Amino acid sequence: MNKVGLVGWRGMVGSVLMQRMVEEGDFAHIEPVYFSTSAAGGKAPAFGGREAPLPLQDAMNVDMLRQMDIVITCQGGDYTKAVYPQLRATGWKGHWIDAASALRMEDSAVIILDPVNLDVIKDALAKGGRDWIGGNCTVSLMLMGLGGLFRHGLVEWVSAMTYQAASGAGAQNMRELLSQMGVLHDAVRAELADPASAILDIDRKVAATMRSADFPVKNFRGVPLAGSLIPWIDVPVENGQSKEEWKGGAECNKILGNPPFRSAGSVPIDGLCVRIGAMRCHSQGLTIKLRKDVPLDELGEIIGTANDWVKVVPNEREISERELTPTAVTGTLSVPVGRLHKMAMGPEYLGAFTVGDQLLWGAAEPLRRMLRILLS
Ligand code: HSE
Repeated sequence: MNKVGLVGWRGMVGSVLMQRMVEEGDFAHIEPVYFSTSAAGGKAPAFGGREAPLPLQDAMNVDMLRQMDIVITCQGGDYTKAVYPQLRATGWKGHWIDAASALRMEDSAVIILDPVNLDVIKDALAKGGRDWIGGNCTVSLMLMGLGGLFRHGLVEWVSAMTYQAASGAGAQNMRELLSQMGVLHDAVRAELADPASAILDIDRKVAATMRSADFPVKNFRGVPLAGSLIPWIDVPVENGQSKEEWKGGAECNKILGNPPFRSAGSVPIDGLCVRIGAMRCHSQGLTIKLRKDVPLDELGEIIGTANDWVKVVPNEREISERELTPTAVTGTLSVPVGRLHKMAMGPEYLGAFTVGDQLLWGAAEPLRRMLRILLS
């Protein structure tokens, strides 16, 4: 049985990964070895009813890591940068499955999203590939939704306007979003209880609370999210883009096995990435320039049959309000795509809206599926 080293299993993405591995019976197929950066020697957990043969191992101990056949890490990019080069330098030939972005654009790495790029994964495996890196959540969720259009070679370019959840910024940000909501409610509790109170007075108090020095904003770099939005995600890069926006083009093309972004043969993908007050589902409003005018029902068929999780929501008000939302999708693997319509710019311009759970398809699920591909 393969020895699988698990690193970062206690964090938010790691916890979702453990939950999914339990649900899918993955632990029956591996010998798990749990690593920790802080509690080496402590008792290892027993996910999936499987006692680990060893206590918690030191995640910085390269000699121990190199005894693994496969390492899966959700520990983050700093850990990857510190440990991965040392581990490979020992001559370790095992498989490295990583949620962090640190190695994503390396030539040796494949960005894993098997419902979309199993061919790219299999090709790399046949050539001796050993580095399997999860994609950026927004990118993976867009491709889970639109993969069919790409596979049919129908996409000339895409503009993605995102509505990204607090979870993408981290667990502390989710807590802070909820604290902000609570503080806003507390500020106008009395007025809300009085049906005769004036809404503009309530609004003034809410705005003053959001702008006050003691509003809880530490994790969101000093600005409110509840009752507002943040039109910038991650650090600036070139051409006026944020890094999150840059990843759209760079990672999508790499996942699809296309030539590098901005070179001939790649698909231009760009947009604006915005943080909103959702908990863990990222949404995206997409403008897709098609290579040709394809009837809408055919496009719906191509999109909706591309994988087992995408589903087309009819472009009707009630079902869109009910099913095409973070509330409907959160905690599920479903990737609805809706609002499909030809846009006013012409018959080759397709409008679409999609929602996906940022911690599932956006982070944990591609990792456990890669593990199963390696074990098969
Ligand atoms: N960078 C993403 C976000 C999450 O900030 O929402 C990780 O892919």
